[in-house]
Amino acid sequence: YRNLRVAVLGGGSVGSQVASLLLEHREELAARAGAGLELVGVAVRNPDAARDTDIPRELITTDADALILGADIVVELIGGIEPARTLILGALGSGADVITANKAVLASHGPELFEAAEQVGAQLYYEAAVGGAIPIIRPLRDSLAGDRVKRILGIVNGTTNYILDRMDTQGDSLEEALAEATRLGYAEADPTADIEGYDAAAKAAILASLAFHTTVPLDAVHREGITALTRDEVLSAREAGYVVKLLAVCERIDADGVEGVSARVHPALVPLSHPLAAVHGANNAVFVEAEAAGSLMFYGAGAGGVPTASAVLGDVVSAARRHVAGGPGVAESTHANLPILPISSATTRY
Ligand code: NDP
Ligand code: HSE
Repeated sequence: YRNLRVAVLGGGSVGSQVASLLLEHREELAARAGAGLELVGVAVRNPDAARDTDIPRELITTDADALILGADIVVELIGGIEPARTLILGALGSGADVITANKAVLASHGPELFEAAEQVGAQLYYEAAVGGAIPIIRPLRDSLAGDRVKRILGIVNGTTNYILDRMDTQGDSLEEALAEATRLGYAEADPTADIEGYDAAAKAAILASLAFHTTVPLDAVHREGITALTRDEVLSAREAGYVVKLLAVCERIDADGVEGVSARVHPALVPLSHPLAAVHGANNAVFVEAEAAGSLMFYGAGAGGVPTASAVLGDVVSAARRHVAGGPGVAESTHANLPILPISSATTRY
């Protein structure tokens, strides 16, 4: 195999899992990617901080700038705008492909970052930026590229869904539930981004831009968070047959004969019979309505280090395939050559 050098920036909830899985599944990932994936380092702020996984000490560095030099693939998992934006631009400028889960930087500086990638023929991958483990970026960008999306309706923030669920089912206060969401690694470094709806608004901007093939700036997304909601209001909603969810709604609309798009994030009353009412904990769900495809639903873990690492590593494999073979990195993978087993009675029970 050709060897590709992978630099991970950030060793927090997501970065620590990505680093460990890269090491643990090295051979399997290499076979799928068609290239060795050598983890060359993990950049952090405090090298002595406790980590969720055991990253070899010699791989930890505080010098992110030095780490990206010579890397073929840079994975940005620091979060926020700076220094993430400058590091992504630096990595792209040096010709590396970049993978990020950072919806904040994409929603506020996306055009600048994509243009920087295009200028040098590099790629910027971001499947983990919306919906955690749920594949939603590729379906919108690739699978639905021949259709016309009319509307996207989704729960796209795991922390607020977790909080509202706990307020509803366990009687927690917002503060109690947020503390637990933070402990579980769902919340942003500054959880105001979650509870005030900024994180969901950034995701709505990304989804709307992809779905409607236009640039939807973050400040064009109407945003309301969940901080004004009380536990009594959540419980009253249930008594009336509803559950409160923070929804992101992106629509193709016609206003006075002018076709355009709109995007908004706000708490909404969802009838208990609606599939979105059954989205519990930190799960996310995204409904996509397209002219030809009809209604599609994407569901799964919307936050958490391990599930998010799945989406990040999928992007790493795509980037590696592109390095090796060129093209968009969607090659079939049949290397495992597993035996086909007879159907047992157990496989018919679910
Ligand atoms: P964390 O806050 O847990 O981790 C951030 C990491 O970045 C830490 O290791 C921190 O170092 C490091 N860091 C901060 N500043 C610097 C710097 N200047 N130079 C080098 N390293 C730095 O964040 P998450 O892992 O939760 O999130 C990472 C990204 O993934 C964010 O963009 C987030 O929005 C996104 N995301 C997160 C999900 C989740 O469930 N957590 C899900 C989907 C996306 P140190 O540890 O030393 O402080
Ligand atoms: N803080 C984010 C959330 C992480 O709770 O959804 C996943 O993007």
